[in-house]
Amino acid sequence: MSKRCCSPEFHSMNRCLWHTTLVLLLGLHVCLSHDTNTIVLNSCERCASNVEYEVSADVDYLITVSPTPGPPCHWECKARVYSGKNSSWLCLSQVGIVSQINDSNGELSVYDSRRKDNAIFHLKYYLSTWHHREDCRQTEFLDFYLRKVKSKAKLDFKKLRINFRVVDIESTNRVVYLDGTYCTTAYKLFNSKISIYNQPDETEAITYEHTLYSLCGVPVEIVDTPETQHKRICFYYMPSDQVNCSSNWSFSVSVGGYTTSPANMIYTLNCAQNRSRETHAWCADVGIRKVTVIFQRNSNVPKSVEQPRMFRFLVLDHNGTAESLMAEKTTAVKELLIPPEEEAVVNNNNIMIICILVSIAVVVLVIVAVVLYSRRRCLSLLLYGPVHNPANPTAC
Ligand SMILES: *[C@@H]1O[C@H](CO)[C@@H](O)[C@H](O)[C@H]1NC(C)=O
Ligand SMILES: *[C@@H]1O[C@H](CO)[C@@H](O)[C@H](O)[C@H]1NC(C)=O
Ligand SMILES: *[C@@H]1O[C@H](CO)[C@@H](O)[C@H](O)[C@H]1NC(C)=O
Ligand SMILES: *[C@@H]1O[C@H](CO)[C@@H](O)[C@H](O)[C@H]1NC(C)=O
Ligand SMILES: *[C@@H]1O[C@H](CO)[C@@H](O)[C@H](O)[C@H]1NC(C)=O
Ligand SMILES: *[C@@H]1O[C@H](CO)[C@@H](O)[C@H](O)[C@H]1NC(C)=O
Repeated sequence: MSKRCCSPEFHSMNRCLWHTTLVLLLGLHVCLSHDTNTIVLNSCERCASNVEYEVSADVDYLITVSPTPGPPCHWECKARVYSGKNSSWLCLSQVGIVSQINDSNGELSVYDSRRKDNAIFHLKYYLSTWHHREDCRQTEFLDFYLRKVKSKAKLDFKKLRINFRVVDIESTNRVVYLDGTYCTTAYKLFNSKISIYNQPDETEAITYEHTLYSLCGVPVEIVDTPETQHKRICFYYMPSDQVNCSSNWSFSVSVGGYTTSPANMIYTLNCAQNRSRETHAWCADVGIRKVTVIFQRNSNVPKSVEQPRMFRFLVLDHNGTAESLMAEKTTAVKELLIPPEEEAVVNNNNIMIICILVSIAVVVLVIVAVVLYSRRRCLSLLLYGPVHNPANPTAC
């Protein structure tokens, strides 16, 4: 009898420990593979798995290239990002410093579902960069194809900078900075919310310039469909505590295209106005389908003079008036107060760290508990003699 001391409990506890550990490892795996939403174009695994990536209003994908790829393999395959919706509008956006291919043997082509043979654009050695920040189009998918021009020759991925993002036209992750390469890109509204900031954080540099652009024009238009017929172009302004007049900025909305003429402006907010420190909403009249945001500041203003994300303008196609938009802010707009990009990064990192810590803590606790439990059982069995109780099975 003494030989069998602990064995039933110990075995079932052992099984229990294994099960718990397996479940925890699985959980940890799920935690770690939590959608980071990055597609690496020169990845062997991606080509082998043949996966296609589905975009929705909440899920978007960053398309990039790894400077240090794995062992030689076949990485030349299309990466397809598709929309889960039927009448789909996908936006191709370009983030950070404009993408560039500095190796003569590299070429990136981007296709949509309407012109399968005719690329939206090719990115090649020096000759061509894509000068837009965003291009929204009605398409079922966007295909990205990075390849070698001469298949036998080498391609140095360190000479490639590729940073595109595919988002749904309704994504809250559409961003405009009133500086540099963002000026002149046209933006489309179709149940959309686009965030316009004065300039990005230092960590998301968009140009190598040290000063801010003194004039920036950003066209915004509503997509013409029966659904959007009665909508207005609206602006919802959210100042930070750091709004100040050091750069002498003014934000106007023109109906005369790219112009600074006051006669064409239907809305103006400048830093000297009290309203620049107050949250407010403004909407264009129903008939106005296209406007141009004209942002002005003094010339040669260093970047440090304006706080990054000093203010945020949300541009929307809204079925209602400025008053109804203000009223709605508690529901639709309030949740957008947090900058989505920053939050996403912070959240992903935090989730991962929390997952790892919790998993480690739980594993340690389980081991300690098992050791203590079996020891105590053994001890009490030795001290008080075996009291076999078959009616009390050890459950796991
Ligand atoms: C999506 O479009 C396809 C073809 O245009 C059609 O056959 C299908 O029924 C549509 N699906 C939905 C959910 O509307
Ligand atoms: C490509 O070359 C240009 C000009 O020499 C340089 O400024 C840029 O940083 C290079 N980009 C990459 C990704 O190497
Ligand atoms: C501020 O900008 C306006 C034009 O937008 C200009 O008339 C004015 O002189 C500027 N003020 C300063 C102090 O630079
Ligand atoms: C702006 O605010 C200041 C200080 O709060 C106040 O003295 C001034 O009257 C306000 N101006 C307008 C036009 O409301
Ligand atoms: C305006 O804000 C910038 C950036 O936060 C700061 O460096 C500058 O001193 C501020 N200027 C004034 C007049 O408050
Ligand atoms: C727009 O608002 C009007 C009145 O509030 C409403 O009757 C209409 O159904 C709305 N249209 C859409 C597309 O939501």
